Amino acid sequence: MASRSPCVMISDEEPRYDLDLFCVPNHCAEDLDKVFISHGLLLDGTEKLARDVMEDMGGHHVVALCVPKAGHTFFADLLDCIKELNRNSDRFIPMTSYCNDQSTGAIKVTGGDNLSTLAGKKVLIVEDIIDMGKTMQTLLSLVQQHNPKMVEVASLLLKSTPRSIGHRPDFVGFEIPNKFVVWYALDYNEYLRNLNHVCVISETGKAKYKSEAESSG
Ligand code: IMP
Repeated sequence: MASRSPCVMISDEEPRYDLDLFCVPNHCAEDLDKVFISHGLLLDGTEKLARDVMEDMGGHHVVALCVPKAGHTFFADLLDCIKELNRNSDRFIPMTSYCNDQSTGAIKVTGGDNLSTLAGKKVLIVEDIIDMGKTMQTLLSLVQQHNPKMVEVASLLLKSTPRSIGHRPDFVGFEIPNKFVVWYALDYNEYLRNLNHVCVISETGKAKYKSEAESSG
């Protein structure tokens, strides 16, 4: 399935930026190799995603589902942009937001009563990164069981990987090569909390983040 609008494609040959050209917290500098997507570009991409969501879903009550814990920063940024558009454009999306906790692989819902409240609603699932697509496939089938009117997916990042099961979100911010990336959303024991940019991890960082990097290829 194709996305609703084009996204920023970042190829493997794309120039990446040395860490000392940006503000990167000293304590995580040795874990990082290069800046891949700067914070400013991330925010621009988020603003554009909000506009695309507004054009597609505007005028309807939308229930936005956050996939934590990594996704909560992008979720907050996206909803802020949508609220800004609500204030400044003719269209309006009334939004309700819930969180899902997928930490153990078995997805459970927190922050909302339960998913039965999604029956008959337009649902927007917000994720920060889609790799193979299995997590989203599981979440989508869970949500579909509760008979929503429609379900759409917005992901800030989509990895190009041969291991993809073929899921393509309705709204994508950036399509990136098959590299393991880190940023503020993916804090490691709170370690990267102040990192605003999407960065490629260094060899030292890879050793530290071994389990995540291995599962991602
Ligand atoms: P999928 O089920 O393979 O699509 O994996 C999705 C999940 O894997 C995301 O929600 C992330 O938590 C994690 N993930 C995959 N690739 C990366 C990466 O490059 N950096 C950080 N997390 C990642």
